[in-house]
Amino acid sequence: MSLVIAIDGPSGSGKSSASKGVARALGLRYLDTGAMYRAMTWWMLAQGVPVEDAAAVAARASEPLLVCGTDPDAPTIAVDGTDVSGPIRTREVTNAVSAVSAVPAVRERLVALQREIIGTGGIVVEGRDIGTVVAPGAPVKIFLTASEEARAQRRTRDLAADPGATVAVTQAEQARRDRLDSTRKASPLTRAQDAHEIDSTRLSLPEVIEAVVRLAKENTATG
Ligand code: DC
Repeated sequence: MSLVIAIDGPSGSGKSSASKGVARALGLRYLDTGAMYRAMTWWMLAQGVPVEDAAAVAARASEPLLVCGTDPDAPTIAVDGTDVSGPIRTREVTNAVSAVSAVPAVRERLVALQREIIGTGGIVVEGRDIGTVVAPGAPVKIFLTASEEARAQRRTRDLAADPGATVAVTQAEQARRDRLDSTRKASPLTRAQDAHEIDSTRLSLPEVIEAVVRLAKENTATG
């Protein structure tokens, strides 16, 4: 397998910007697995599926067709031919995604699709369970963290167009999502034993990218 860089961590830790930057720097593809769980959630909401009802979600999990583009300069995600890059970032989807992503049938389907996209490698993959479940053999695994305050501030900047998203509200919603993502039965968010932990609280984006690129070079140089 050629290079796979797995980048896991909680929401707002800077995974997306760092992962895209690393992919650009090393000429690799980029896969945002969170966008896939969001797209599945968007579809369930659009279909009127009660997302807190795990059996109802599981019963429909095989229906939507997801297509992901892996260019780090223009990542795309489409459901049944509709581009959903914008709608999957709304707070409605964000607050429902933990329930949908805890359903084993959803995870089985998306993990299979993620492995298909990873294929023989040459890719940076970001998520919650990449180093532990999706690609446990990845030669480079990163666990990216940041303080709760720093993460809430970053998320609030991402949600600038939403007047309800103050730092306090975002921090509370984020804490709830982290708790659900870390305590669910199916592949909870945990650091892989062999992952390198990077705390980005006091690092700039270029510094995080540089640290990951350095680790990738070290790990691939030694085999
Ligand atoms: O990275 P993100 O915030 O866009 O992810 C959205 C949600 O998807 C997150 O709350 C948990 C879930 N997720 C997951 O369960 N497994 C992944 N590999 C990626 C995301």
